[in-house]
Amino acid sequence: MPMFDFERVVERRGTDSLKWDGMNERFGPVPGDALPMWVADMDFLSPPCVVKAIRERAEQGVFGYVQTPAATFGAVKDWMGSIHGWEVDPGWITSSTGVMPAVGVAIRAFTRHGDGVIIQPPVYPPFFRIIEDNDRAIIENPLLLEDGVFRMDFESLEVKLSDPRNRILLLCSPHNPVGRVWTKEELELVGRLCLDTGTLLLSDEIHADIVFKPFRHIPAASFDPSLAENIITCVSPSKTFNIPGLQTAYTIISNPELRDGFQASLRATAIGSHNNFGLVAGDAAYREGAPWRDSMLEYIMGNRDFALSFFKKEMPWVAVSPPEGTYLLWLDFNECRETEEAVNKRLINKGKVVLDPGSWFGKEWSGWQRLNLACPRSIMIDGLERIKTAFSDLVI
Ligand SMILES: Cc1ncc(COP(=O)(O)O)c(C=O)c1O
Repeated sequence: MPMFDFERVVERRGTDSLKWDGMNERFGPVPGDALPMWVADMDFLSPPCVVKAIRERAEQGVFGYVQTPAATFGAVKDWMGSIHGWEVDPGWITSSTGVMPAVGVAIRAFTRHGDGVIIQPPVYPPFFRIIEDNDRAIIENPLLLEDGVFRMDFESLEVKLSDPRNRILLLCSPHNPVGRVWTKEELELVGRLCLDTGTLLLSDEIHADIVFKPFRHIPAASFDPSLAENIITCVSPSKTFNIPGLQTAYTIISNPELRDGFQASLRATAIGSHNNFGLVAGDAAYREGAPWRDSMLEYIMGNRDFALSFFKKEMPWVAVSPPEGTYLLWLDFNECRETEEAVNKRLINKGKVVLDPGSWFGKEWSGWQRLNLACPRSIMIDGLERIKTAFSDLVI
């Protein structure tokens, strides 16, 4: 008998869930029984320790202002130490209401209008938006796909980092949507290139805890203090424990000058304090959630392997690189030679299933779609069958 129940189907429609109730707004009219397999949140109940902590806090019944207690920073430190082997000083940690708010704060603190921020598409869509919305220039350094494995294009990266107008490299580690878990060698090279060119390395590690054996997440700032001096790391319990709606994240900066600059910019936005429920949920997750996380990883690995065999057997023309981490599958539909609009139509209207269209992750990626695997297996199988139905009349 498994310790936690990931098979349970939780009714989320009608709860103002972005994933379940927000499809019409994002995708136009969508059939009422469409199955959402887009946006990165899980359909699992959060860990019992998290639900218990929130319930106890709610029952106390007073919801005044809160301060982030020292114990919270201790919980982050302990998690980084025990899960990722990273020795973090609690004094390096700043809390915020999310990773993307922290990324925006860092961009405003360390670049000026018109400066370049480098990203590596295909990549999490808000990376484009946050740069653009802050009037900075998006500098794209696309990933390379070599023998089915995505890699960073270091040659071109070096050229872009050497341009003094480009002030930040925004790294996604592990990488959403391709599921790469960057190796120490890759991270060392990135860190070194950034340091040598005077470009700040802003490392978004929100998916750090969702990595499949034998791969291991290595925090970019964890293995060489001289590289760490030039790194801002963003982490959060939100993806791991399915609490993204509680707006809780942490930024870890060992360099005091960078930290002061970041905190001054954060103060200017007044988004630096936590919601009380986010705080208690994050603390409970980091302190007591490790067994739940282990079980969740096993379950998602099972989903991943099931989905990979499904595509191989039922839709062999869809190319998939097995993800090393994240609960996302990056699917290559190019072989069907249809436009993204036509593929979306098939999926939504014929298959009644909603994925994230590839062009959201970069203009060049319109032949791809992103699939979310973090759901009970019965739902995932239903979703895979719907994808198959969407292309049932296609002759390849
Ligand atoms: C790479 C990456 N960064 C940031 C976020 C969002 O973080 P937050 O909700 O804390 O702003 C996500 C959510 O999917 C993500 O995949």
